[in-house]
Amino acid sequence: MIDKETLVEWDKRYLWHPFTQMQDWLAEEPVIIERGEGCYLIDIAGNRYIDGIASMWTNVHGHNHPGLNTALKAQIDKIAHATLLGYSNVPAIQLAQKLVELTPAGLNKVFYSDNGSTAVEVALKIAYQYWQHKEEPQRKLFIHFDNAYHGDTIGAMSVGGIDSFHSTFASLLFKGIRVSASDVYRPSDANEVVVKTRWLNAVERALSEHEGQIAGIILEPLIQGAGGMLLAPNGFLKELAALAKRWKTLLILDEVMTGFGRTGKMWACEHEDVTPDLFCMAKGLAAGYLPLAATLTTDDIYNAFLGEYRDLKTFFHGHTFTGNPLACAVALENIAIFERENLLSRLQPTLEHFKNRLQEFYALAHVGDVRVCGFTAGIELMENPDTDTPYPFEEKVGIRVCKEALTRGAILRPLVNTIVLMPPLQISISELDTLLDIVYTSIKVVTNDPSQ
Ligand SMILES: Cc1ncc(COP(=O)(O)O)c(C=O)c1O
Repeated sequence: MIDKETLVEWDKRYLWHPFTQMQDWLAEEPVIIERGEGCYLIDIAGNRYIDGIASMWTNVHGHNHPGLNTALKAQIDKIAHATLLGYSNVPAIQLAQKLVELTPAGLNKVFYSDNGSTAVEVALKIAYQYWQHKEEPQRKLFIHFDNAYHGDTIGAMSVGGIDSFHSTFASLLFKGIRVSASDVYRPSDANEVVVKTRWLNAVERALSEHEGQIAGIILEPLIQGAGGMLLAPNGFLKELAALAKRWKTLLILDEVMTGFGRTGKMWACEHEDVTPDLFCMAKGLAAGYLPLAATLTTDDIYNAFLGEYRDLKTFFHGHTFTGNPLACAVALENIAIFERENLLSRLQPTLEHFKNRLQEFYALAHVGDVRVCGFTAGIELMENPDTDTPYPFEEKVGIRVCKEALTRGAILRPLVNTIVLMPPLQISISELDTLLDIVYTSIKVVTNDPSQ
């Protein structure tokens, strides 16, 4: 075993961490995780931390899960990888069948890739090419939303809406129609129905101004994740889906974050009974074990790509590890656990508890908003919630709260000044209470809140 000092030194010498200001990183002592046990992460010094963000929103059943481990080991004794380009493999076929069964009726075809960004790239490219096959090649534009996050590849960024991430690359991105949508919390937006109507009107205006040019509308259903855990008004998704139909464009749902039980149902779109034309999933697909993504679509879209070899209607897209057998075997076991343990029903009391306990955070002087959607929450910290005054960015209040939480035994990662909570679905109520207590105290300490 390499000693801790060497690992720290090599980390700083050789690694470049994602979404990280490395100058800050180099000045600090990194936490280096070595093991996991259920909802706990254990570092090389043996310290235990509750995984409050499910290892970047991926983990479903806990770490080092016996059933998932067995599925992975069983598959590795057969084969680790075999290509889907020109051939097939057993777990990829079985998983595709299962995903079609599990997603809303009408999504009948599965295209695999490796992560959330690629699932979105695939959806965008399928939608774009579909309209060429349908002889409407002028449908080239995508409607997307302020604060949206669909990943970091060029296509996914082009339909994003977070300026701090995306504006540096503006001249590299393709043109789309970005629709303004602010979150429901802001005092001026207090009326949910008013907000919903305003958003829908903005979309309809874009559809009308660019009639016949819109290839699709892409969004994160119910809740925008990386944008700050921002909730959409009730009913927005359903009415948006109706708008997409009326204007004959495609609806692309990015369920990369919301899929696999995160919102309390298997899929966020089930809450409003919506079936999209293209459906992206990743993160929780292989239970947080391995990188795997899928883009599902309808027969209508799939059939548009059928033709003679010489017609070049083929979807010319594919990643080397597409349909990786190890990841697909784990994903199959992931779904089997949901079914065997009746997890979504069993989860309901925990979700209720989570929601109720989060209301206590309003007692803190600098909590401006608590947004909850199933097993996902964003606690927005503000310098002055009464005047809607945010903390200055450079004060790093969110980062400081997460650092405080680390010393108390929880691993978190903020979105600027919003503290994100997204534990593994299998967390127990007592573990959840410990996590919430840590977060509460950490906010109190960092914001110098004198209240009890
Ligand atoms: C909604 C959504 N879409 C896409 C992505 C990108 O996924 P990945 O980081 O796996 O590329 C994310 C990642 O957080 C996400 O939350």
